[in-house]
Amino acid sequence: MNFWEKLPRPFFILAPMHEVTDTAFRQIVCFYKKPDVLMTEFVSADGLCHPSSQKRIINYYLKFSQKERPIVAQIWGASPQVIFQASKIIASLGFDGIDINMGCPDKKVVKNGGGAALILKPKLARELILAAKEGGGGLPVSVKTRLGFNKNIVEKWVKELVKAKPVAITLHGRLQKENYQTPADWESIAKAAKIVKKEKIIIIGNGDVKDISDARKKAFQYGVDGVMIGRGVLGNPWFFDEKKYLILTKDKERMKREKLKIALKHALLFEKTFKEIKPFCHLRKHLAAYISDFAGAKEIRLKLMGAQNATEVKKIISFYLKR
Ligand SMILES: Cc1cc2nc3c(=O)[nH]c(=O)nc-3n(C[C@H](O)[C@H](O)[C@H](O)COP(=O)(O)O)c2cc1C
Repeated sequence: MNFWEKLPRPFFILAPMHEVTDTAFRQIVCFYKKPDVLMTEFVSADGLCHPSSQKRIINYYLKFSQKERPIVAQIWGASPQVIFQASKIIASLGFDGIDINMGCPDKKVVKNGGGAALILKPKLARELILAAKEGGGGLPVSVKTRLGFNKNIVEKWVKELVKAKPVAITLHGRLQKENYQTPADWESIAKAAKIVKKEKIIIIGNGDVKDISDARKKAFQYGVDGVMIGRGVLGNPWFFDEKKYLILTKDKERMKREKLKIALKHALLFEKTFKEIKPFCHLRKHLAAYISDFAGAKEIRLKLMGAQNATEVKKIISFYLKR
Protein backbone atom coordinates (compact mmCIF):
# COMPACT_ATOMS: atom_id res chain seq x y z
CA MET A 1 0.00 0.00 0.00
CA ASN A 2 1.46 3.39 -0.91
CA PHE A 3 0.94 6.58 1.10
CA TRP A 4 -1.70 7.95 -1.32
CA GLU A 5 -4.05 5.12 -0.38
CA LYS A 6 -3.83 5.93 3.32
CA LEU A 7 -4.72 9.61 3.08
CA PRO A 8 -7.85 11.02 4.74
CA ARG A 9 -10.66 12.47 2.60
CA PRO A 10 -10.48 15.21 1.69
CA PHE A 11 -6.71 15.64 1.96
CA PHE A 12 -4.68 18.79 1.42
CA ILE A 13 -1.41 19.24 -0.48
CA LEU A 14 1.07 22.07 -0.59
CA ALA A 15 1.51 22.87 -4.30
CA PRO A 16 4.91 22.82 -5.94
CA MET A 17 6.06 26.40 -6.56
CA HIS A 18 9.37 26.97 -8.27
CA GLU A 19 11.76 29.11 -6.22
CA VAL A 20 9.18 29.25 -3.40
CA THR A 21 8.49 25.84 -1.85
CA ASP A 22 12.01 24.73 -0.96
CA THR A 23 12.70 22.61 2.11
CA ALA A 24 13.12 25.66 4.38
CA PHE A 25 9.66 26.98 3.48
CA ARG A 26 8.09 23.54 3.64
CA GLN A 27 9.53 23.04 7.14
CA ILE A 28 8.11 26.40 8.19
CA VAL A 29 4.68 25.25 6.93
CA CYS A 30 5.06 21.95 8.82
CA PHE A 31 6.00 23.86 11.99
CA TYR A 32 2.33 24.93 12.19
CA LYS A 33 0.56 21.95 10.66
CA LYS A 34 1.86 19.51 8.13
CA PRO A 35 -0.21 19.26 4.95
CA ASP A 36 -1.15 15.65 4.11
CA VAL A 37 1.32 15.63 1.19
CA LEU A 38 4.21 17.92 0.22
CA MET A 39 5.84 18.36 -3.17
CA THR A 40 9.17 19.78 -4.22
CA GLU A 41 9.47 22.57 -6.76
CA PHE A 42 9.74 21.07 -10.22
CA VAL A 43 13.14 20.09 -11.56
CA SER A 44 14.21 19.35 -15.08
CA ALA A 45 14.69 15.62 -15.58
CA ASP A 46 17.43 16.40 -18.13
CA GLY A 47 19.22 18.64 -15.63
CA LEU A 48 18.92 16.03 -12.90
CA CYS A 49 20.47 13.37 -15.13
CA HIS A 50 23.30 15.55 -16.43
CA PRO A 51 26.58 15.15 -14.51
CA SER A 52 27.36 18.88 -14.76
CA SER A 53 24.11 20.02 -13.11
CA GLN A 54 23.04 17.02 -11.03
CA LYS A 55 24.69 17.98 -7.74
CA ARG A 56 23.42 21.55 -7.91
CA ILE A 57 19.85 20.46 -8.67
CA ILE A 58 19.84 17.98 -5.79
CA ASN A 59 21.23 20.49 -3.29
CA TYR A 60 19.21 23.42 -4.54
CA TYR A 61 15.81 21.91 -5.21
CA LEU A 62 15.60 18.36 -3.89
CA LYS A 63 16.71 18.71 -0.28
CA PHE A 64 14.10 17.57 2.20
CA SER A 65 13.82 16.68 5.86
CA GLN A 66 12.20 13.60 7.39
CA LYS A 67 9.40 15.68 8.94
CA GLU A 68 8.14 16.58 5.45
CA ARG A 69 7.06 13.03 4.60
CA PRO A 70 5.20 12.03 2.55
CA ILE A 71 7.23 14.10 0.12
CA VAL A 72 6.91 13.81 -3.64
CA ALA A 73 9.56 15.03 -6.10
CA GLN A 74 8.21 16.80 -9.15
CA ILE A 75 10.02 16.51 -12.46
CA TRP A 76 9.43 17.74 -15.96
CA GLY A 77 10.76 16.39 -19.22
CA ALA A 78 9.77 14.96 -22.57
CA SER A 79 11.98 11.93 -23.02
CA PRO A 80 10.93 8.57 -21.56
CA GLN A 81 14.60 7.48 -21.26
CA VAL A 82 15.50 10.60 -19.30
CA ILE A 83 12.39 10.38 -17.10
CA PHE A 84 13.34 6.75 -16.39
CA GLN A 85 16.85 7.80 -15.27
CA ALA A 86 15.57 10.79 -13.28
CA SER A 87 13.05 8.56 -11.50
CA LYS A 88 15.84 6.18 -10.55
CA ILE A 89 17.74 9.09 -8.98
CA ILE A 90 14.62 10.29 -7.15
CA ALA A 91 14.04 6.82 -5.74
CA SER A 92 17.67 6.65 -4.57
CA LEU A 93 17.24 9.99 -2.77
CA GLY A 94 14.47 8.48 -0.63
CA PHE A 95 11.39 10.32 -1.91
CA ASP A 96 7.93 8.86 -1.32
CA GLY A 97 6.62 9.53 -4.82
CA ILE A 98 7.26 11.03 -8.23
CA ASP A 99 5.04 13.63 -9.88
CA ILE A 100 5.37 14.49 -13.57
CA ASN A 101 4.58 18.08 -14.46
CA MET A 102 2.28 18.19 -17.50
CA GLY A 103 0.88 21.64 -16.87
CA CYS A 104 3.68 24.20 -16.70
CA PRO A 105 2.88 27.02 -19.15
CA ASP A 106 6.42 28.45 -19.17
CA LYS A 107 7.63 29.09 -22.73
CA LYS A 108 11.03 27.47 -22.18
CA VAL A 109 9.50 24.30 -20.73
CA VAL A 110 6.81 24.08 -23.44
CA LYS A 111 9.37 24.68 -26.21
CA ASN A 112 11.30 21.70 -24.91
CA GLY A 113 8.19 19.54 -25.17
CA GLY A 114 7.57 19.37 -21.41
CA GLY A 115 4.94 20.76 -19.04
CA ALA A 116 1.67 21.74 -20.74
CA ALA A 117 3.04 20.74 -24.19
CA LEU A 118 2.35 17.13 -23.20
CA ILE A 119 -1.40 17.82 -23.25
CA LEU A 120 -1.01 17.83 -27.04
CA LYS A 121 0.93 14.54 -26.99
CA PRO A 122 -1.08 12.03 -24.96
CA LYS A 123 0.84 8.99 -26.21
CA LEU A 124 4.15 10.47 -25.11
CA ALA A 125 2.55 11.55 -21.81
CA ARG A 126 1.62 7.94 -21.14
CA GLU A 127 5.11 6.73 -22.07
CA LEU A 128 6.54 9.17 -19.53
CA ILE A 129 4.27 7.82 -16.78
CA LEU A 130 5.29 4.26 -17.57
CA ALA A 131 8.98 5.22 -17.68
CA ALA A 132 8.72 6.92 -14.29
CA LYS A 133 7.01 3.84 -12.83
CA GLU A 134 9.77 1.62 -14.12
CA GLY A 135 12.62 3.92 -13.10
CA GLY A 136 11.05 4.67 -9.72
CA GLY A 137 11.06 0.98 -8.85
CA GLY A 138 7.63 0.89 -7.23
CA LEU A 139 7.32 4.53 -6.15
CA PRO A 140 3.82 5.86 -6.89
CA VAL A 141 3.73 8.11 -9.95
CA SER A 142 1.28 11.00 -10.20
CA VAL A 143 0.67 13.76 -12.75
CA LYS A 144 -0.11 17.46 -12.37
CA THR A 145 -1.75 19.05 -15.36
CA ARG A 146 -4.29 21.58 -16.67
CA LEU A 147 -7.66 21.52 -18.45
CA GLY A 148 -6.12 21.87 -21.88
CA PHE A 149 -3.60 23.78 -23.96
CA ASN A 150 -5.50 26.33 -26.08
CA LYS A 151 -8.95 24.90 -25.40
CA ASN A 152 -10.61 22.94 -22.68
CA ILE A 153 -10.28 19.23 -23.54
CA VAL A 154 -10.11 17.99 -19.98
CA GLU A 155 -12.49 15.03 -20.34
CA LYS A 156 -10.66 13.70 -23.40
CA TRP A 157 -7.26 14.43 -21.82
CA VAL A 158 -7.88 12.60 -18.55
CA LYS A 159 -9.28 9.62 -20.45
CA GLU A 160 -5.89 9.41 -22.18
CA LEU A 161 -3.95 9.80 -18.93
CA VAL A 162 -5.84 7.17 -16.94
CA LYS A 163 -4.81 4.51 -19.49
CA ALA A 164 -1.27 4.68 -18.03
CA LYS A 165 -2.69 4.34 -14.49
CA PRO A 166 -0.98 7.13 -12.60
CA VAL A 167 -1.77 6.89 -8.88
CA ALA A 168 -3.20 10.42 -8.83
CA ILE A 169 -3.98 13.31 -11.16
CA THR A 170 -3.92 16.92 -10.01
CA LEU A 171 -5.91 19.30 -12.17
CA HIS A 172 -5.17 23.00 -12.09
CA GLY A 173 -8.42 24.49 -13.41
CA ARG A 174 -6.95 26.58 -16.20
CA LEU A 175 -5.60 26.24 -19.75
CA GLN A 176 -1.93 26.66 -20.66
CA LYS A 177 -2.68 30.09 -22.13
CA GLU A 178 -4.60 31.36 -19.11
CA ASN A 179 -3.01 33.33 -16.33
CA TYR A 180 -4.27 34.01 -12.83
CA GLN A 181 -6.71 36.69 -14.05
CA THR A 182 -9.01 33.96 -15.37
CA PRO A 183 -10.69 32.23 -12.43
CA ALA A 184 -9.95 28.51 -12.01
CA ASP A 185 -12.74 26.45 -13.59
CA TRP A 186 -13.82 24.01 -10.90
CA GLU A 187 -16.87 22.85 -12.89
CA SER A 188 -14.48 21.32 -15.42
CA ILE A 189 -12.44 19.78 -12.62
CA ALA A 190 -15.67 18.17 -11.39
CA LYS A 191 -16.42 16.68 -14.84
CA ALA A 192 -12.93 15.19 -15.02
CA ALA A 193 -13.17 13.95 -11.42
CA LYS A 194 -16.08 11.67 -12.35
CA ILE A 195 -14.05 10.03 -15.14
CA VAL A 196 -10.87 9.66 -13.08
CA LYS A 197 -12.64 8.24 -10.03
CA LYS A 198 -14.33 5.55 -12.11
CA GLU A 199 -10.82 4.24 -12.83
CA LYS A 200 -10.02 4.20 -9.09
CA ILE A 201 -7.42 6.90 -9.59
CA ILE A 202 -7.11 9.74 -7.07
CA ILE A 203 -8.18 13.17 -8.27
CA ILE A 204 -6.93 16.43 -6.79
CA GLY A 205 -8.34 19.87 -7.59
CA ASN A 206 -6.25 23.02 -7.65
CA GLY A 207 -6.75 26.72 -8.20
CA ASP A 208 -7.75 29.84 -6.24
CA VAL A 209 -8.43 28.13 -2.91
CA LYS A 210 -8.70 30.79 -0.20
CA ASP A 211 -8.50 28.81 3.04
CA ILE A 212 -9.02 25.30 4.42
CA SER A 213 -12.74 25.77 4.84
CA ASP A 214 -12.94 26.79 1.15
CA ALA A 215 -10.82 23.72 0.27
CA ARG A 216 -13.17 21.43 2.17
CA LYS A 217 -16.22 22.98 0.51
CA LYS A 218 -14.66 22.63 -2.94
CA ALA A 219 -13.72 18.99 -2.34
CA PHE A 220 -17.31 18.22 -1.43
CA GLN A 221 -18.96 20.36 -4.11
CA TYR A 222 -16.71 19.26 -7.00
CA GLY A 223 -16.13 15.64 -5.96
CA VAL A 224 -12.34 15.59 -5.65
CA ASP A 225 -10.36 13.46 -3.20
CA GLY A 226 -7.88 16.16 -2.32
CA VAL A 227 -7.17 19.83 -2.80
CA MET A 228 -3.82 21.40 -3.62
CA ILE A 229 -2.99 24.93 -2.50
CA GLY A 230 -0.20 27.17 -3.76
CA ARG A 231 -0.26 30.96 -3.56
CA GLY A 232 -2.52 31.04 -0.52
CA VAL A 233 0.29 29.61 1.61
CA LEU A 234 2.91 32.20 0.64
CA GLY A 235 3.19 34.60 3.59
CA ASN A 236 0.59 32.43 5.35
CA PRO A 237 2.50 29.33 6.49
CA TRP A 238 -0.24 28.59 9.05
CA PHE A 239 -2.66 28.01 6.13
CA PHE A 240 -3.16 24.32 6.98
CA ASP A 241 -3.52 25.04 10.71
CA GLU A 242 -7.18 26.08 10.77
CA LYS A 243 -7.22 27.02 14.44
CA LYS A 244 -4.17 29.26 14.23
CA TYR A 245 -5.45 30.75 10.97
CA LEU A 246 -8.74 31.77 12.59
CA ILE A 247 -7.10 33.19 15.72
CA LEU A 248 -4.63 35.25 13.71
CA THR A 249 -7.23 36.51 11.24
CA LYS A 250 -9.27 37.91 14.12
CA ASP A 251 -6.37 39.59 15.97
CA LYS A 252 -4.34 42.00 13.84
CA GLU A 253 -1.69 42.75 16.49
CA ARG A 254 -1.11 39.05 17.12
CA MET A 255 -0.90 38.44 13.37
CA LYS A 256 1.74 41.16 13.02
CA ARG A 257 3.90 39.67 15.81
CA GLU A 258 3.48 36.15 14.39
CA LYS A 259 4.56 37.38 10.96
CA LEU A 260 7.66 39.05 12.37
CA LYS A 261 8.59 35.98 14.40
CA ILE A 262 8.08 33.52 11.57
CA ALA A 263 9.99 35.73 9.11
CA LEU A 264 12.97 35.54 11.48
CA LYS A 265 12.60 31.79 12.06
CA HIS A 266 12.45 31.26 8.29
CA ALA A 267 15.54 33.42 7.71
CA LEU A 268 17.54 31.46 10.29
CA LEU A 269 16.42 28.12 8.88
CA PHE A 270 17.06 29.22 5.29
CA GLU A 271 20.60 30.23 6.14
CA LYS A 272 21.30 27.04 8.06
CA THR A 273 19.89 24.87 5.26
CA PHE A 274 21.32 26.61 2.22
CA LYS A 275 24.52 28.25 3.43
CA GLU A 276 26.91 28.49 0.47
CA ILE A 277 24.29 26.86 -1.79
CA LYS A 278 21.56 29.45 -2.34
CA PRO A 279 22.13 33.19 -2.08
CA PHE A 280 20.29 34.83 0.81
CA CYS A 281 18.45 37.16 -1.62
CA HIS A 282 16.25 34.14 -2.56
CA LEU A 283 14.49 34.65 0.75
CA ARG A 284 13.30 38.15 -0.15
CA LYS A 285 10.02 37.05 -1.72
CA HIS A 286 9.14 35.28 1.53
CA LEU A 287 10.14 38.22 3.71
CA ALA A 288 8.07 40.54 1.52
CA ALA A 289 5.09 38.17 1.71
CA TYR A 290 5.23 37.95 5.52
CA ILE A 291 5.75 41.64 6.12
CA SER A 292 2.60 42.95 4.53
CA ASP A 293 -1.01 43.78 5.37
CA PHE A 294 -0.37 45.53 8.69
CA ALA A 295 0.25 49.12 9.70
CA GLY A 296 3.93 50.01 9.34
CA ALA A 297 4.72 46.94 7.21
CA LYS A 298 6.23 48.98 4.39
CA GLU A 299 8.92 50.53 6.60
CA ILE A 300 9.99 47.13 7.97
CA ARG A 301 9.83 45.50 4.55
CA LEU A 302 12.10 48.10 3.00
CA LYS A 303 14.70 47.53 5.70
CA LEU A 304 14.48 43.75 5.31
CA MET A 305 14.98 43.96 1.55
CA GLY A 306 18.49 45.23 2.27
CA ALA A 307 19.38 42.47 4.75
CA GLN A 308 22.28 40.32 3.55
CA ASN A 309 22.00 37.52 6.09
CA ALA A 310 19.92 36.13 8.96
CA THR A 311 21.86 38.14 11.56
CA GLU A 312 20.80 41.37 9.87
CA VAL A 313 17.20 40.13 9.64
CA LYS A 314 17.35 39.36 13.35
CA LYS A 315 18.58 42.86 14.20
CA ILE A 316 15.78 44.52 12.23
CA ILE A 317 13.00 42.23 13.46
CA SER A 318 14.11 42.27 17.12
CA PHE A 319 13.88 46.07 17.07
CA TYR A 320 10.25 45.97 15.92
CA LEU A 321 9.30 43.10 18.21
CA LYS A 322 10.50 45.09 21.23
CA ARG A 323 8.35 48.12 20.38
C1 LIG B 1 5.68 31.15 -8.21
C2 LIG B 1 5.00 29.92 -8.70
C3 LIG B 1 5.75 28.81 -9.04
C4 LIG B 1 5.11 27.65 -9.49
N1 LIG B 1 5.87 26.54 -9.77
C5 LIG B 1 5.26 25.37 -10.08
C6 LIG B 1 6.03 24.17 -10.22
O1 LIG B 1 7.24 24.14 -10.03
N2 LIG B 1 5.34 23.04 -10.56
C7 LIG B 1 3.98 23.03 -10.76
O2 LIG B 1 3.41 21.98 -11.05
N3 LIG B 1 3.25 24.14 -10.61
C8 LIG B 1 3.85 25.31 -10.27
N4 LIG B 1 3.08 26.41 -10.04
C9 LIG B 1 1.61 26.31 -10.12
C10 LIG B 1 1.04 25.98 -8.72
O3 LIG B 1 1.50 24.74 -8.27
C11 LIG B 1 -0.50 25.98 -8.75
O4 LIG B 1 -0.93 25.02 -9.68
C12 LIG B 1 -1.09 27.32 -9.12
O5 LIG B 1 -0.46 28.38 -8.43
C13 LIG B 1 -2.60 27.38 -8.82
O6 LIG B 1 -2.85 27.12 -7.45
P1 LIG B 1 -3.18 28.32 -6.42
O7 LIG B 1 -4.32 29.10 -6.98
O8 LIG B 1 -3.51 27.63 -5.13
O9 LIG B 1 -1.92 29.16 -6.33
C14 LIG B 1 3.71 27.60 -9.61
C15 LIG B 1 2.96 28.72 -9.27
C16 LIG B 1 3.57 29.86 -8.80
C17 LIG B 1 2.73 31.05 -8.41
